[in-house]
Amino acid sequence: MKEQLEKIYENAEKDLSQVSTIAELDEIRGKYLSRKGEFNEIKKNLKNLSDEDKRIVGALANEITQKLENALKLKHDEFYKKELNEKLMKERIDITLPGKFIPHGRVHLLTSTTNEITSIFQSLGFSVVPQHDAPEVETEYFNFDALNVPKDHPARDVQDTFYTEIAPNVVLRSQTSNAQIHAMEGKNPPIRIISPGRVYRNENINARKNNFFHQIEGLYVDKDITFGDLKGVLNEFIRIYFGSSRPTRFRNSFFPFTEPSAEVDVQCIMCEGKGCRTCSGTGWLEVLGCGMVDPNVLREVGIDPDIYTGFAFGMGVERLAMLKYAVDDIRLFFNNDERFLKQF
Ligand code: DAH
Repeated sequence: MKEQLEKIYENAEKDLSQVSTIAELDEIRGKYLSRKGEFNEIKKNLKNLSDEDKRIVGALANEITQKLENALKLKHDEFYKKELNEKLMKERIDITLPGKFIPHGRVHLLTSTTNEITSIFQSLGFSVVPQHDAPEVETEYFNFDALNVPKDHPARDVQDTFYTEIAPNVVLRSQTSNAQIHAMEGKNPPIRIISPGRVYRNENINARKNNFFHQIEGLYVDKDITFGDLKGVLNEFIRIYFGSSRPTRFRNSFFPFTEPSAEVDVQCIMCEGKGCRTCSGTGWLEVLGCGMVDPNVLREVGIDPDIYTGFAFGMGVERLAMLKYAVDDIRLFFNNDERFLKQF
């Protein structure tokens, strides 16, 4: 039996020397070491031996199986490393090859400008009303009547405002000021909001004017709000948005929904005030209208003008972007020319 064992071990060693893969190793393990393997067959016959022989042959059988196990394990490790290396080499990535170019979109300049302006006002304590609270398709009541705009005001003319066919009194809003009425109706001061959105006007299109554009409306109603507060907030906004070096001016103006009213001009960045096509030779571009909310407007929404006052403003987003990034034609915002859009 001892010879038999040694013979089997010799065969196993010979088999082992000829294998080169893990799969073949597994076959050898089956052939010699499994339950039906050759060593087990021998071990089954141990019971026929004397106690003395059982001990000797048993110990030898264990020793030989252990040796074979070790040899198998060594080979296994060796083949595993080899096969892994081959696999890694085959799957190697050549990092010197040029990559695939994946073009990625970017935020439109008008969106980023709106976001920038919005966050400045948020930092000054204003909250942003959701767009659906101030619709672009609007009744004349919110766009004009409630804002104290007289029935015969030229802004209501079809030459200035787009009327829809939905109903005789439904227009595309010509200003974000409708947001003021929606923000105040049924609510109590303090009210401190801004409302960004698109407006429509029946304009002759040129470098400064388009038939739709974007505004950000602002409104602050509370006790003891003064024109000084209005100037303080707008000057702070301009200082943060443009930096302190940009010349600006407050100018007297008139709007039906504010009294007194003003406009703010910012020096033209294209010509540095000398006068050019963009500012039609004046050296200035108007960026916003503002004023103290007219008592008639407060009364219309049920706020007592003897107790409360407020200020409002409406600024042009395109104009503000043009003046910060030296965009010399408003139409560039809407042409979707990648050469323009990619710059921002
Ligand atoms: N709605 C005005 C316009 O589109 C701008 C404006 C002026 C808004 C005065 C205001 C304001 O809120 O108080 O020309």
